[in-house]
Amino acid sequence: MTEQPREQWATRAGFLFAAIGSAVGLGNIWRFPAIAYENGGGAFLLPYLIALLTAGIPLLIMEYAVGRKYRLSPPAALRRMARPAEAIGWWQVVISFVIATYYAVIIAWAVRYVGFSVGQQWGDDPEAFLFGDFLRAPDTPGFLDGFVPGVFWPLVCVWVVVLGILAFGIRRGIERANKIFIPLLFVLFAALVIRALTLDGAATGLDALFTPDWSELGNGSVWVAAYGQIFFSLSIGFGIMVTYASYLGRRADLTGSAMVAGFANSSFEILAGIGVFATLGYLATASGVGVDEVAGAGIGLAFVAFPAVISEMPFGGFFGILFFSSLVIAGLSSLISIVQVVVSAVQDRTGMRRRTAVLGVGGLVALVSVLLFPTESGIYLLDASDHFINQYGIALAALVALIVIVWVLRQLPGLQANADATSAVRLGHWWRICLGVITPVVLGWMMVDSLRTEFE
Ligand code: PHE
Ligand code: NA
Repeated sequence: MTEQPREQWATRAGFLFAAIGSAVGLGNIWRFPAIAYENGGGAFLLPYLIALLTAGIPLLIMEYAVGRKYRLSPPAALRRMARPAEAIGWWQVVISFVIATYYAVIIAWAVRYVGFSVGQQWGDDPEAFLFGDFLRAPDTPGFLDGFVPGVFWPLVCVWVVVLGILAFGIRRGIERANKIFIPLLFVLFAALVIRALTLDGAATGLDALFTPDWSELGNGSVWVAAYGQIFFSLSIGFGIMVTYASYLGRRADLTGSAMVAGFANSSFEILAGIGVFATLGYLATASGVGVDEVAGAGIGLAFVAFPAVISEMPFGGFFGILFFSSLVIAGLSSLISIVQVVVSAVQDRTGMRRRTAVLGVGGLVALVSVLLFPTESGIYLLDASDHFINQYGIALAALVALIVIVWVLRQLPGLQANADATSAVRLGHWWRICLGVITPVVLGWMMVDSLRTEFE
C-alpha cells in the first residue's frame, strides 16, 4: 500500500468555515425555533446556554483534539487508541451513512420549493399541495408505481453536487465550497431576517417565542431537549468533527476554534429563531389567529407555514426564494461533512484513493438515498429514521465513545496536552469534569428519557 500524505486545510479560516458549515444546517433553521418554542420559550435559552458550555464546546474541543492528534477518521483513530474500540468508530460511520440518506431528501424538497416560490405554485392550501401534488406519485402502472419523480430529480442533483465537491478533496472541494457557502448564507439570511422584522405582527411572533415560562426549568425534558439540540446542532457525538480535524495542521488553535464555531452556530440559531417567529407572527396576525396555530414544527414549518406566509405577503416570491435557498445552502454544507466521514473512514481503512472512495462509497450512500426516499412511503421512512437517529443513535454513540475514551482508555490527559500546546486558553479541571461526568450523565439520562416517552 502506498502511503499518500494526508490532505490539509489550506488555512485556519478554511477549517473554521467548514466546521461552521457542518454545524449550521437544517437544524438551525427549522429545528431550533420549534424546540425553543415548545420548551419554555425565552426560558429555554438558559438550559441551552448551559448545554453549550458544559457539553457542546468541551466535546467539540475533544473531537478536534482526537482528530488532530491521530490524524485519522474515527474508526482508525479509535483503533489506534485500542484495537477493539474501532467498532465504535464504525458505528458512528453507520449513523452518518443513515443521516446522509435522508438529510439529502429535505434539501431536495427545498430545491423544488425554490422553484415553487415563483408564482406561489402551492396555491391556497400548501398542506394539501405538499402531501397531495408534490409527494404523491402519478398513477403509472408497473414497477414504478409509488415513485415520485418530483423528488427524484432534485435529489439526483443534490447528490451530483455533493459528490462533485467531495471529489475535489479537502482544499479544492470542501474548503472552497464552504468559503462561498457560508458568507452567501449569511447574506441571504440577514436579508431574510431584516425583511421578517419589518412585517406587521413581527413583535407578536417574537413575544410568543421569547416570553419565558420559568416554570419549565423544573421540567427534566426541557433540559433533555436543550442538550439534544446542542448535540445535533453542533454535529458532535459521532465523529464528524474528528474527521474534519484530522485534516488540520499541527499548529491550529483547537480551543479557540471550538469557541468560535460553537458561538457562531448558536448565534445563527437564535437569529433563525427571530426570523422564523417574526414571520409566523405576521401570518398569525394576518389570519387573525394565535401564533400557536401557525407554528408547526419541522416539515410543517418550512413546507406548510412558510409557503402560506409567502402567498400572503407582497413580493412573497422573492422572500420564498431567499428562504428556500438558505435551506439548500445550509443543508449542503452539512451534508458534505456527513458524507466525508464515510468516505474518509473507508479511505483510511483500505488506502483507497479519494476519487475511488467518493465514487464508490459516496455513490453507495447516494444510491440508497435515491432508491428509498422518492417514493410514496418515503416521508414515513424519513420520519422514522430521523426519530430513531435523534432519540437513540447519536446519544448512544456519544455515550459509549465518551465512556471508552475518558474512563476506559484514559485519553483525556493526552488530548488536553494536545489542545493546550497550541492555545492561549488552558483547559482546566472543568473540561475533564464536563466530559467525564456531566456529559455522560446527561447522555444516559437522555437515553432513559427517550425510552420512557417511547412506551408511554
Ligand atoms: N448540525 C447540523 C444541523 O444543525 C446537522 C448535522 C448533524 C450535520 C450531524 C452533520 C452531522 O442541521
Ligand atoms: Na446546527
